[in-house]
Amino acid sequence: MKPRDRLRIAMQKSGRLTEPALELLKRCGLTFRQSRDKLFCFGEGEPVDLLLVRDDDIPGLIAQGVCELGIVGRNVLDEFRLTVGRESEPLAELRPLGFGRCRLSIAVPQEFDYREPTQLAGRRIATSYPGLLGAWLRERGVAAGVVTLAGSVEIAPKLGTADAICDLVQSGGTLVANQLREVDVLLESEAVLAGPQALPADERGDLVELLLKRLDGVIQVRE
Ligand code: PRP
Ligand code: ZN
Ligand code: MG
Repeated sequence: MKPRDRLRIAMQKSGRLTEPALELLKRCGLTFRQSRDKLFCFGEGEPVDLLLVRDDDIPGLIAQGVCELGIVGRNVLDEFRLTVGRESEPLAELRPLGFGRCRLSIAVPQEFDYREPTQLAGRRIATSYPGLLGAWLRERGVAAGVVTLAGSVEIAPKLGTADAICDLVQSGGTLVANQLREVDVLLESEAVLAGPQALPADERGDLVELLLKRLDGVIQVRE
């Protein structure tokens, strides 16, 4: 890949992390020229540009060197590290960002009398996080079937394709709407700044350090 002198940050194009991520970058002194419905936003002050993409694509884009940094949920980053990312350069969680807090949890239908993970043995669990769920089950020695779905995981029990689900819970509204009960937490998540384990050894590396410094200032003020 051709070396670049501008830094690229990937973030969610539209979703729960979009507004707070833009707000945070603004507080770090970054402003961008193009409107938000475009894929690419040109940085006006610092030589830092934005890529607006699907959140699930962000770790892969960093691993491929398409961008240096990404603002993404810890759940997405950790899932990538446990699956596709095992083959590529390791990614690091550079900073927790304090917004987009949610949990990756096991939820079961009301009639399931859940007390402990071993009760999941021999059951099917629907999830978009097969890596994180698989690791959690292995650690507990539970052999369950993992049904991977890209979305609408919460309707799987009603459809009879799963006995439980493993999905993100924020307000809990989705679970209530689907008569599911949260019974175990696998991961406490929030938006994080992700990047390569080894920063580029050029101007972009210096830019990352400058950004981290500003970020620490902004986060400290907010706390
Ligand atoms: C997530 C998750 C649940 C929902 C939980 O989906 O998959 O469906 O949020 O939030 P709640 O507890 O506040 O109801 P989201 O719509 O964010 O994105 P997705 O399309 O990637 O599933
Ligand atoms: Zn997503
Ligand atoms: Mg959802």
